[in-house]
Amino acid sequence: MMRLDRMLSDMGVSSRSQTKKAIRQKRICINGIPARTSDVKIDPDSDQITIDGFLVAYQKYAYFMLNKPQGVISATEGGCETVLDLIDSSIPDLFPVGRLDKDTVGLLLITNDGELAHNLLSPSKHVDKEYEVELLHPLSDEDILKIEKGIRLHDEEFQPAVYKKMDDLHCRLIIHEGKYHQIKRMMEALQNEVVFLKRIRMKNLVLDENLQLGQSRELTAEELRDLKEQGR
Ligand code: URA
Repeated sequence: MMRLDRMLSDMGVSSRSQTKKAIRQKRICINGIPARTSDVKIDPDSDQITIDGFLVAYQKYAYFMLNKPQGVISATEGGCETVLDLIDSSIPDLFPVGRLDKDTVGLLLITNDGELAHNLLSPSKHVDKEYEVELLHPLSDEDILKIEKGIRLHDEEFQPAVYKKMDDLHCRLIIHEGKYHQIKRMMEALQNEVVFLKRIRMKNLVLDENLQLGQSRELTAEELRDLKEQGR
């Protein structure tokens, strides 16, 4: 059970004061009967809440897929534009699941579901992250072998990654860790340089190519179900 005004504010549907006002105007109904107070307790899973006759289906958490553009940071606050500024929603407590560098583009999951975020980011889960990479120099066969076997640089180690060649300067890399600047640093270890980096997949969530840079959309029920499945 939860308060009606809490349910509506958690979902970003209306603030507490907006809910109060709507109740006075008899616009909110619970199972067909106009609500009388905003603090009335409801069962969000079984009670039917409508505003102006439209059903408000309860969703505990929100999940957005963003095609992150260059120049915005993967943080919830900071001096410059953040990925949250690109999400058109008043749902509270949203945060990005993991980070992409300021100049990296592509798939970023934004949610307020801490448990899912933890499961996707936990190093022990080895969730796949797939990137399109453009390099300054072609990779040698020896470089590719190192990528596939794991790279060791000074006291740092990168676990084996999957390499898929596109052409001499373009490839896809699948990594299972999420170290800071990981792909850039792997390429630096091979005396190469990343010119352009785009994430296209995280676990089984694939970037929707219909999303322009800076655009986002909610995950479908199927995408969410797959993302919550065990495995990487
Ligand atoms: N690796 C990087 O170097 N940067 C990213 O943003 C993601 C992976």
